[in-house]
Amino acid sequence: MKNRTLIKNLKVEEDLNPDGSVKEVILKGWVDIRRDHGKIIFIDLRDMSGKVQMVALPNHKEAHIIANTVRPEWVIEVHGKVNKRPEKMVNKDEENGSIEIEITNIIVLNESETPPFDISNDGYEINEETRLKYRYLDLRRPRLQKNIRMRDKIISFFRDYMHKNDFVEIETPILMKGTPEGSREYLVPSRLENGKFYALPQSPQQFKQLSMVAGFERYFQIARCMRDEDLRGDRQPEFTQLDYEMSFTTQEDVLNFTEAMFIELVQTMFPEKKITFVPFPRLKYAECVEKYGSDKPDLRKDKNDKNELAFAWIIDFPMFEKDDQGNIQAVHHPFCSIKDEDVEKFMNGEDLLNIRANSYDLVLNGYELSSGSIRIHKSDMQKKVFELLRISEEEQQKKFAHMLEAFKYGAPPHGGFAPGVDRIVMILMNEPNIREVIAYPKNGEGKDLMMNAPSTVSEKQLKELGIKLVK
Ligand code: AMO
Repeated sequence: MKNRTLIKNLKVEEDLNPDGSVKEVILKGWVDIRRDHGKIIFIDLRDMSGKVQMVALPNHKEAHIIANTVRPEWVIEVHGKVNKRPEKMVNKDEENGSIEIEITNIIVLNESETPPFDISNDGYEINEETRLKYRYLDLRRPRLQKNIRMRDKIISFFRDYMHKNDFVEIETPILMKGTPEGSREYLVPSRLENGKFYALPQSPQQFKQLSMVAGFERYFQIARCMRDEDLRGDRQPEFTQLDYEMSFTTQEDVLNFTEAMFIELVQTMFPEKKITFVPFPRLKYAECVEKYGSDKPDLRKDKNDKNELAFAWIIDFPMFEKDDQGNIQAVHHPFCSIKDEDVEKFMNGEDLLNIRANSYDLVLNGYELSSGSIRIHKSDMQKKVFELLRISEEEQQKKFAHMLEAFKYGAPPHGGFAPGVDRIVMILMNEPNIREVIAYPKNGEGKDLMMNAPSTVSEKQLKELGIKLVK
């Protein structure tokens, strides 16, 4: 049995086999388009690696009969000979435009119903609900194939970059206790302890800090995060961060390391793109908001240039802000350390809204790409933040005893960062929405329309979990 050849590996074989027969290849894939020119039938075949034009001629009688019946999206196996196209049929703009497969045999592996929408074009104009319901078909379109494959390459670049710099990837729990990242959390009821709940991570923040206490010094993770927040084009309830943390580091180190990584990513993988400012400008939060009216300004010189990337750092964020009800809350999260100049105010609990943290954001073309900070690594400082946030001693013990405790056992100074992978891929692939670069995203109401989640569960499951629904 001969092996299947991938379309990308096709080459014209002029030679014959030793027995004098014509050399043939076996291709497997999907019918992209079928064009009937009377006696001659053209079929474009698509596999994971590319597309090629094939031709069924009446002299291969059986193959010709089957070629007449196949329809777009049928799955077929084709035996055929790779020919050079006649000079006037060569199309330099087309993938494999100089060759053609002369079909000698077709085996239908599976038929397909007519898809609910066209998958050969970009698909932007198709109703999104339908695209998401049939996501496995939507993903067949070339644009999405390209986005998802590029996403994999970008993640692979990050992983390699981290490993080259002595970071170790550590998988942190998905079933955990809440982390105060400022959004509503997803809860998972415990069966073994009715009435108790796990929370899904809004980020691995506490685990990465605890990994510094554990002596790993350089941690990273391609981390799934879950937040139950209202959705927008650049927000999903589940998303991915390139999460990292370093011990014995400074804000300067984190900024320089990150900046070098993004420059290398763009230069090696997107050479057609240009970065507007190198080094990335550093704007103080207060000045930035004053000047641009936003903490994520779009600094592109030409906002219509899809190849322009205007990165900028925003530094010196305030530690605290007031929420809608006028309560004090942390701008980033309660683990950020306080700028030396503001420690006195902080210790005295004075002028809270003007206390700055050692925290920083990276913005790109008007999007917030990442946040991070140098952290608190001492118990008493951490307790002071909780106190200023009006978190009672009892509540502190209930929620954060592990952090306060851990900081008592030789916690090193540390800090880190967490760029959002979906946003990075979205911007680099010139997409308007992160749903275009996530294989199986939720719709605007947080639903998975393909699987139909969330969904109801059985009475038996609820009973095991000790849960009664209120109608
Ligand atoms: P933060 O909450 O700012 O920081 O998140 C960091 C980055 O994650 C991305 N992001 C999202 N992407 C898609 N959908 C969402 N709902 C969403 N929410 C956040 C953004 C954002 O900039 N633990 C800290 C980081 C740290 O201090 O090291 C954190 O999670 O790109």
